[in-house]
Amino acid sequence: MHYLRGGKNGCQELIKGFRKILLLIGITLLEVVFVSCDGKGADEQVVTDPIVTVENNNTEKSINNKNEGEAMDIANKKNYKELYEETGELPSLAKVYSEYFTVGVALAGFDFTDSKKTDLVISQFNSITCENEMKADCTLSLEATLAKGDEECPAINMERAEVALNFAKDNGLGMRGHTLVWYSQTPKWLFTVGYDTSEEAKLVTREVMLKRMENYIKQVMEYTNTNYPGIIYAWDVVNEAIEPGDGREDGLRVKNNYWYEVVGNDYIEMAFTYARKYAAPGQKLFYNDYNTYEKNKLFTTYKLAENLKEKGLIDGIGMQDHIKLDYPVLTDYEYALKKYGELGLEIQITELDIDAKEDTEEAQAKLAARYKKVMMTLQSLKEKELANITNVTIWGLTDDRTWLSKEDSPSYPLLFTQEFKAKEAFFGALQDESVKLY
Ligand code: XIL
Repeated sequence: MHYLRGGKNGCQELIKGFRKILLLIGITLLEVVFVSCDGKGADEQVVTDPIVTVENNNTEKSINNKNEGEAMDIANKKNYKELYEETGELPSLAKVYSEYFTVGVALAGFDFTDSKKTDLVISQFNSITCENEMKADCTLSLEATLAKGDEECPAINMERAEVALNFAKDNGLGMRGHTLVWYSQTPKWLFTVGYDTSEEAKLVTREVMLKRMENYIKQVMEYTNTNYPGIIYAWDVVNEAIEPGDGREDGLRVKNNYWYEVVGNDYIEMAFTYARKYAAPGQKLFYNDYNTYEKNKLFTTYKLAENLKEKGLIDGIGMQDHIKLDYPVLTDYEYALKKYGELGLEIQITELDIDAKEDTEEAQAKLAARYKKVMMTLQSLKEKELANITNVTIWGLTDDRTWLSKEDSPSYPLLFTQEFKAKEAFFGALQDESVKLY
């Protein structure tokens, strides 16, 4: 919080004046707000620090007791874009939100070879996530596993993940580990007898699979914690384990899911048990999933997290948030955040992007407004202590490289253009006053 101490005497005079007026109209509650902000004594005056005027323009202190409409008015007073046009300096997302949560970006291995990209990343973000390089299909080595010949312990190769790990280490960024146990992007041979890759390969027993699971988690965690201590602050231990469409009451994803097929119902709990065993002190364990704001998924995710929390195995819920311009409605989104907030777990927005199929001015203005509303919602819930949001990660840096673009249907969902220019969406994410809300 940016508050400076004022002169004691002048301040006391001011306060006396205030007191008289306030007593007269009998609003003692207001006195608390003006005189003892932040629990400070009555001899301290609240003054905005001129050095941080731009960042402080949201008068974050007063958002606390305001309803959403008022919070929006406050956000509207920010003028980052104007400042950028005057000075040519782009404000930093990570700095702007530093009092609320870290701000991250997902990157692919080859993103680190372009210094224009890396400069932008360093100036804008304080956390990164590997878009693919820490998934099992990247970290497991079939060759080394076969050479090792240990039926209970597959071999890993972290070469591809190291590019990101080194970058984070060299530039003082934190990293989200994504992800240990997932039905997707995990080779089938991890589940077969003799790590057999053939069509007719047989699946191993639950006992063998649990050993493989433990040894995989152990190796990845120990490797990263030993060589890159303190870099990975959170792990998505299990990803996308809920699929209500698969028809089970507990919502578990059972189709095309070898973890479930070989280990059984408790594979999620077992993964968290092993992750807890090998995690470094303070390293946070997350359950991560998409559509977590949809009612049926919310209920099952809540139950799963509650159960893991009772056992002391989980620290947070990752809401991926691959959302659309008009879906979900923000009331549902906010409701889900509050609901997860009730569990007392951390919440991280792990994969935010907003599918915008057109690059027209109109569509991009809508995108900017949507980012603005999402960030206002997140900031406001954090401010009110209704959801302990500790990170917001954007799933990609520039529009030319987004997983949402398919050959015949491009998408322009991110904050920067291919030329590293800040889009309207960037200013939306900063809650800039120039971005109109629809
Ligand atoms: C996506 C990557 O962005 C793509 O490059 C890859 O081809 C498929 O996976 N949920 C997740 C992420 O947890 O790992 C996915 O990332 C997007 C959906």
